[in-house]
Amino acid sequence: MGKLDNKIVFITGATAGIGKACALSFAEEGASLILSARRKNKLDELSKNIKSKYGVKVYFFELDVTNSEQVKEKISSLPAEWKQIDILVNNAGLAKGYSKINEGNIEDWEAMIDTNIKGLLYVTRQILPLMIERKQGHIINLGSIAGHQVYPYGNVYCATKFAVNSLSEAIRMDTLESNIRVTNIAPGLVETEFSEVRFNGDKERAKKVYNGIEPLTGEDIADLILFAATRKSRININEIIVTPTAQASATQVFRKE
Ligand SMILES: NC(=O)c1ccc[n+]([C@@H]2O[C@H](COP(=O)([O-])OP(=O)(O)OC[C@H]3O[C@@H](n4cnc5c(N)ncnc54)[C@H](OP(=O)(O)O)[C@@H]3O)[C@@H](O)[C@H]2O)c1
Repeated sequence: MGKLDNKIVFITGATAGIGKACALSFAEEGASLILSARRKNKLDELSKNIKSKYGVKVYFFELDVTNSEQVKEKISSLPAEWKQIDILVNNAGLAKGYSKINEGNIEDWEAMIDTNIKGLLYVTRQILPLMIERKQGHIINLGSIAGHQVYPYGNVYCATKFAVNSLSEAIRMDTLESNIRVTNIAPGLVETEFSEVRFNGDKERAKKVYNGIEPLTGEDIADLILFAATRKSRININEIIVTPTAQASATQVFRKE
């Protein structure tokens, strides 16, 4: 018997990195999954793989969290048996660019603000009322160590993750009477597609971010998310801040030669 049998878990950004690892970990514990992201072919492939490996139910659809109308339409038209969402993993997010603020690219800023802040709000706004109605639910937000400490050239990305941290606190306060759990997950360096996206597909530059250290993996973060999601119902893990052992803060990393 899995720890999440009969639970419905909704994951945004399930096609790569932390979101994909969460899908696999939750499936292993018997959860029924609603998977979403922009790359439908990857969702299709992941869904087939999960169904055959774990025999759980998977419902997936293309979703761009920056499109508020699409978010509203897709979530409100979920079949009735999929509407009782127990756990929402607000994972879709990205960093774009790495430069001084006076040299920043405005399109990159818009992409980060639209995805990391507004996208998280749009999805939460649709799903939270369903949880409040049932007086049951768990919202798990992907913040970052960058939501606690600003690092040089991180400016707007850090600001979006400070916002996620604030929103996790705010949701916890506003839903206090409704038995809703809220967890903020704040990782340091995790090797996923994150740096490739940040550097517009420059794989070599992305690889250098993790040079000389053993970074965290998507599976490491999924393991912690699963831990938070499987505590007794009276326990709310408010936040998990986690870094590789070779990382002391957002700015201090020990790299072996
Ligand atoms: N990697 C790290 O070091 C690190 C550290 C701290 C926090 N985080 C946070 O962890 C979360 C996951 O990041 P990751 O490291 O797993 O990165 P990743 O490998 O690049 O995965 C990001 C996921 O988000 C999805 N996504 C991006 N924009 C989207 C949009 N507009 N609508 C829907 N889905 C969207 C992507 O799917 P599609 O492209 O298919 O849409 C992808 O599945 C992010 O919120 C990130 O800020 C990462």
